Amino acid sequence: MDINVQELIKTALEMRKRSYTPYSHFNVGAALLASNGQIFTGCNIENAAFTPTNCAERTAFFKAVSEGVTDFAAIAIAGGPDGSDPVDYCPPCGICRQVMSEFCNDDFKIIMVKSETEYKIVTLPEALPDRFGPKDLLG
Ligand code: THU
Repeated sequence: MDINVQELIKTALEMRKRSYTPYSHFNVGAALLASNGQIFTGCNIENAAFTPTNCAERTAFFKAVSEGVTDFAAIAIAGGPDGSDPVDYCPPCGICRQVMSEFCNDDFKIIMVKSETEYKIVTLPEALPDRFGPKDLLG
């Protein structure tokens, strides 16, 4: 499918405004493109007990799956200190890579955003080689 990279990047950057980050002050936004063309957004949501914190990527995935959408093409991720533009690319954490692995095939694209013009794209197998996934349990 056609991926409008610029739209995903802008949406991920915009979603950083919704982050709830009283502890890390590190705001992450995500824009997840479903194969049906819908975009699901996410931000990180922290918690005083720390471990319940949800990353922006997982927020977007769980919103989509809970709405009945389970096929995806790409995700854009932008992160950086609260009150500033990103200072670097924001790679997805290991847990988020595993969640991607549950729902995405080998051509799923991860767009790491530094700015509207600076971004890196990797595929899921590049981000998580030899991944454990549904095929290992379901065949
Ligand atoms: N975070 C994300 O939302 N996504 C990532 O891929 C990396 C980390 C969040 C979790 C936490 O709220 C903050 O960034 C600092 O780790």
